[in-house]
Amino acid sequence: MSMPLFLWYTELDNLRAMPPMTTANAPGKIIVFGEHAVVYGRPAIAVPVTQVQAQVTIEQGEEGQGIVIVARDLGRILMVGEGETNDVVSPLQAVVASTLEYLGLGLEHDLTITIESTIPIARGLGSGAAVSTAMTRALAGYFARELTGQEVSGLVYEAETLYHGTPSGIDNTVIAYERPVYFIRDQKLETFCVRKPLLFLIADTGLESPTKTVVGAVRQAWERSKDRYEALFDSVGDVAVRARRALEKGEVEQVGRLMDENHRLLQTMGVSSFELDALVEAARHTGALGAKLSGAGRGGNMIALVTPQTCERVKDALEKEGAQSVIQTGVEASTDLTPSLVPERER
Ligand code: PMV
Repeated sequence: MSMPLFLWYTELDNLRAMPPMTTANAPGKIIVFGEHAVVYGRPAIAVPVTQVQAQVTIEQGEEGQGIVIVARDLGRILMVGEGETNDVVSPLQAVVASTLEYLGLGLEHDLTITIESTIPIARGLGSGAAVSTAMTRALAGYFARELTGQEVSGLVYEAETLYHGTPSGIDNTVIAYERPVYFIRDQKLETFCVRKPLLFLIADTGLESPTKTVVGAVRQAWERSKDRYEALFDSVGDVAVRARRALEKGEVEQVGRLMDENHRLLQTMGVSSFELDALVEAARHTGALGAKLSGAGRGGNMIALVTPQTCERVKDALEKEGAQSVIQTGVEASTDLTPSLVPERER
């Protein structure tokens, strides 16, 4: 039976008036090799952590309300676009404004943007970059536009400069592309292949450590003793190159040894802490193949490379040593084994 014409129109109007809603997510990340040295142009390796997520939901707001950001975990409500763009003060507001501008849209929308995240803040897991990535994706989705990984990464980088001052760009890159990356600042992104799967435990010291502060401290030390720090960064860069080769060849034990070497260099740089070192030691003593701090350091998280056999034992040890939380994550073996640093005959 066909629908009467007037009813059909009413149905259509209801559909048009129905508030559209878009949700987008982004994962956390860990830096497996090369933090800090990456700021000074050395290579680094990072992988996404899908066990923690930032989520942004965008809904049509009340008429005249403007753009309202509800940051649930921070307990904050922020407005975007009241008056001039120089009202933009926080990275959250900045990423909304810059994404809308990039999409060729103004700020005169009535939107309610809700942010929820399971990524702990200021612990080296990329919470800022993840929220910005989810925000950019959600805005593009809401306005039925598509952005490439590169475009999302670029927009998030802009916001990251407000969190970090001089970010290398590794966080936005690994999170926006959502795959393991071999990253060198200002160079074309290289993904790489992982021959054998990896299993990591990520243990939280429970101590907040703002990246900007630690990166600033390293810069001061570098300014005081440039030769010493340049040599340290060279060594870290060399570890990252060797780690990529080991990952490509599936030499998991070598990856662990290189993590230990990277941690020693980070200790010498002055970015470890008593708590991080204690967790690293606990992991090593209970059978981890290697362990190091991850991210800016002086707090935040450490990572341990484990096997299915040692995983539970190391996890127990980390918890006994005072880890506030322990997350288990993995990196799958790549199906596509190109591009590679390892000549074909050696793979
Ligand atoms: O955001 P975090 O804490 O993971 O630190 C990022 C890593 C650094 O190398 C210390 C800084 C950067 O911009 O690369």
